[in-house]
Amino acid sequence: MTSGTTPLGLGVLASGRGSNLQAILEACARPGFPARVVAVVSDRERAQALDRARATGVPARFVNPKDFPDREAYDLALVRELQARGVGLVCLAGFMRILTSGFVRAYAGRILNVHPSLLPAFPGLAAQRQALEYGVKVAGATVHFVDEGVDTGPVVLQSSVPVHPDDTEESLSARILAEEHRLYPDAIRLFAEGKLVIAGRRVVVRAAGRPGAAASEASL
Ligand code: GRF
Repeated sequence: MTSGTTPLGLGVLASGRGSNLQAILEACARPGFPARVVAVVSDRERAQALDRARATGVPARFVNPKDFPDREAYDLALVRELQARGVGLVCLAGFMRILTSGFVRAYAGRILNVHPSLLPAFPGLAAQRQALEYGVKVAGATVHFVDEGVDTGPVVLQSSVPVHPDDTEESLSARILAEEHRLYPDAIRLFAEGKLVIAGRRVVVRAAGRPGAAASEASL
């Protein structure tokens, strides 16, 4: 949701390594990319994602879940932090918490997540291990809007990778991760250009965006 040359403000929530955050930061540094990371928040003090953000001068904050009485109060604090920084799109990037309905409502239709499977296959934790154990021949990555379920929101982009007979969880994860790093900036760009329309479960990619118009026309 940007108009003119004002970049969309991204808020990235991450709990760990932050390689997707890094891919987003690098995309934002490219000329003409229509978004900027304006806040990174983590629920883990030692998350590498916080270091990556600070290294590029992005405000990064650890918000300790133990400082709050319940999940609702914690998520409210996150929403306040993101709103105070002018975040227009929330990007979950390895954030190991399920958002409360209060958070999802506050940013309805403006939260993306990346998941290391071809959803709806293998939601939840250890998706790559699930794929190997199931014996699928094709795996992949999904960027989707976030609703109140676990990895259940409307799919924005997906990309497939082969599963090789000798794959380990590590080798398959690395192949999928490369796709995540490509897909997530692409999805953010489409959102920022106003080209994504949520129509029920489907996300329609418009050929041309309408600058300044709402990027999504359904509530999540
Ligand atoms: C990625 O595999 C992502 O799909 C999943 O968590 C992992 C985060 O990795 N949701 P990173 O912290 O971005 O490196």
